[in-house]
Amino acid sequence: AAQAFRASILDFTSAPTVEGSGLRFYEDGILVLDQSGNVIALDHAEVLLPSLSQVKTAHFPGKVIMPGFIDSHIHFPQTDVIASYGEQLLDWLNNYTFPAEQRFADYDYASNVAEFFLDELMRCGTTTAMVYCTVHPQSVDAFFSASERRGSRMIAGKVLMDRHAPDALTDTAESGVQESADLIDRWHSNGRQLYCLTPRFAPTSTELQLTLSGELLASSPGVYMQTHLSENHGEIAWVKALFPERKHYLDVYDHYGLLGPTSVFAHGIHLSDDELQRLSDTGSSIAFCPTSNLFLGSGLFDLERTRSFNVGASIATDVGAGTSFSQLHTLNEAYKVLQLQGLSLHPFEAFYWLTLGNAKTLRLDDKIGNFETGKEADFIVMNPQSTPLMAYRYEQCSSLAEKLFLFMTLGDDRLIQATYLQGRQVYQAADV
Ligand code: GUN
Ligand code: FE
Repeated sequence: AAQAFRASILDFTSAPTVEGSGLRFYEDGILVLDQSGNVIALDHAEVLLPSLSQVKTAHFPGKVIMPGFIDSHIHFPQTDVIASYGEQLLDWLNNYTFPAEQRFADYDYASNVAEFFLDELMRCGTTTAMVYCTVHPQSVDAFFSASERRGSRMIAGKVLMDRHAPDALTDTAESGVQESADLIDRWHSNGRQLYCLTPRFAPTSTELQLTLSGELLASSPGVYMQTHLSENHGEIAWVKALFPERKHYLDVYDHYGLLGPTSVFAHGIHLSDDELQRLSDTGSSIAFCPTSNLFLGSGLFDLERTRSFNVGASIATDVGAGTSFSQLHTLNEAYKVLQLQGLSLHPFEAFYWLTLGNAKTLRLDDKIGNFETGKEADFIVMNPQSTPLMAYRYEQCSSLAEKLFLFMTLGDDRLIQATYLQGRQVYQAADV
């Protein structure tokens, strides 16, 4: 053993019940790591302490250690447009997003924003994300370089867009796919980085670009695919007009071979039964982005219906249409989206979702998501004393479920005291 961490420790071994099966909680626990930052052991302090007399142990009394959060859909260049007033999807893209994304042609600019973006994720306790860069390959190099330097496991890709966007933001069918292939060679499985083919959404790719993207995906084992799907009624009508021969929005992606177990479709708010059935049959998943869906007025994601088709749903911020980098804030909004539909979100399920749940949906659960032996130890230390209100209410809670519900309802970046990647501290809050 190389080092150990002692605190209250929580993780999940499977989807939890409200009674708490599937959940592991050690009131006074120890997490033990090896030299490379992988988990060796997790148990009660009294069990492990005798064997750890020679091992450097960091002790956080009164704090809660949990696996790092996973965000399945976020745009790093949209750090520049978060909180932009007044529009729904298509106008928001044209008026705010496309102008901002043009700045990422400059490697140094992209690099600075990538550093800020990763700092912000770490401050919020997010250790892995599935990330859109811009159409510029240099934005991807900047992002992966920054991520690899700090040792975070990230999935990311170059946006493919060969029509219906400003000239400065378009590639061509051939150049976009060639650049993606080069980026796969450079970055896929390089250290902790994983590549994701990223056609922005159906309206901004020609049929040729979608055809070539599907071919590249088929010949790139392990490479992911991400795009947007059925977010907004204007968008859906536009897709119908552009692809009249396809039976629905999802069929555009299906026709070009873009569905599958490592394909993640953001939003999926206004889907037909047939679309949900096809997502299910192909093992494709949806990223639910509650703050974005509310902010752009896109609609209420129907989690229950999605699950009734056995379609995987991850949970994501979608910054910059999303209004917070914090996955805690995202849970808070998800709870309200579900409440408006007569459902709720139990805190056990919520924290499972941010950790092992998203890891499973992103097919990363062999590497991250909990503290099983051998997994990469990306984790956070949460401080219930971080704000007066949290401290006050925390004191009143008797059960773990109540405490976790406070974290997801009142919590934000201030709850995160420290963030570790494979046992290395990459963020620590200023002393409170
Ligand atoms: N659809 C196509 N591009 C985007 C984007 O950048 N954000 C969101 N929310 N939806 C999109
Ligand atoms: Fe998005």
